[in-house]
Amino acid sequence: MSLLTDRLAPRIVEEDGSYRTKMLGIAAGMKDVIALGRGDPDFHTPAHIVAAAKAALDANAHHYTGPTGLPLLRAAIARDLTDSYGLDYTADEIVVTAGVQESIMLCMLALVAPGDEVLITSPRFTTYDTAVHLCGGVPVPVPTVEANDFALDVAEIEARITPRTRMFVMVSPNNPTGAVTPPAVIRQIADLAIKRNILIIADEIYAKMIYAPNEHLSIATLPGMKERTITLNGFSKTYAMTGWRVGYLAAPLAFVEKVTEPRHTLSINTCTVSQHAALAALTGPQEPLHAMLAEYAERRDWLMPALTAAGFTYGHPGGAFYIYTNISSTRMPAPEFCERLLRDTGVMLFPGTMFGDDSTDYIRISYLQPLPMIQEAMRRIAAFTARVRAAA
Ligand SMILES: Cc1ncc(COP(=O)(O)O)c(C=O)c1O
Repeated sequence: MSLLTDRLAPRIVEEDGSYRTKMLGIAAGMKDVIALGRGDPDFHTPAHIVAAAKAALDANAHHYTGPTGLPLLRAAIARDLTDSYGLDYTADEIVVTAGVQESIMLCMLALVAPGDEVLITSPRFTTYDTAVHLCGGVPVPVPTVEANDFALDVAEIEARITPRTRMFVMVSPNNPTGAVTPPAVIRQIADLAIKRNILIIADEIYAKMIYAPNEHLSIATLPGMKERTITLNGFSKTYAMTGWRVGYLAAPLAFVEKVTEPRHTLSINTCTVSQHAALAALTGPQEPLHAMLAEYAERRDWLMPALTAAGFTYGHPGGAFYIYTNISSTRMPAPEFCERLLRDTGVMLFPGTMFGDDSTDYIRISYLQPLPMIQEAMRRIAAFTARVRAAA
């Protein structure tokens, strides 16, 4: 302990990042590592987007923008939300942020008071836990299960609603499971939100990555839902733009007006050059996006039967670029499995415990390497697993 750490505010709760650090440390000392751990696309940002950013630099886009973002970008986002999802937001109902990450923090700052409970689709992207903790709230996981392909079940949400419940964070497709919650269930969730008067944060960052016949339904399109929903989306995953840091929230104007000053306080505005890049992503050719999506689909279609052949089960992923895989047949807890797999074979995967899962039965595979690399990783995983099973 030290003078500073002795005086930490209670909102700073212990978040254990030691496992990730250990894994990255092991990988750094190895050759020939195949990383299927992070949720960061292996593709580069499409060239026309990079060119637009260079042009913006040459045109002296070196200064602050308004806190809610470039007017042209906000208009393009509103148009895309209508065209892609049937959502009805105007340009002034959009707040551009440093990734969806900053939107998440802004939502929690705006809506969570100490002691408030926030229901979160689980297993989950644990930024939500930290953001809720930083606001003095209590994250409440809503479990999803493999037998249901990790889709949400409205009864599981309802069972956890208390007088302190403020909102439900709905992530579909979800990270780490890739689960798409079917439209019929989304309608039930909307009915529940209205009946029990809770707010919805709809994190739709993976919504353009949907594999047929799965369908995405944006909950804010349903009657009575826009007023109680904040829709989050961004550019990191869809356009392979993780490092540019551009995301946004969409919400009714009265809310946007209330969060404009807090948003200014966080970082004034999203990096101006990155906003120009995001504008090009939406207004330029969409072929690079479609090519990336086709490749993700091909990898997924190869990987699912390969996992089955290696004796694993998984929740059928309807979207995103993850397969949440059950390794209980190896009788080895997932954190140990991932560490030994990395040390023995150089394949890096993350255990479900890094995604708030109490079970040690799962690993998340991100298929974010070219197919030949994924095939080589799968050969190593299958051989490792055969050795582990033989020794068990
Ligand atoms: C569900 C979910 N929401 C938000 C984010 C944050 O993305 P961004 O890069 O836009 O901050 C991620 C990143 O992995 C995610 O998986």
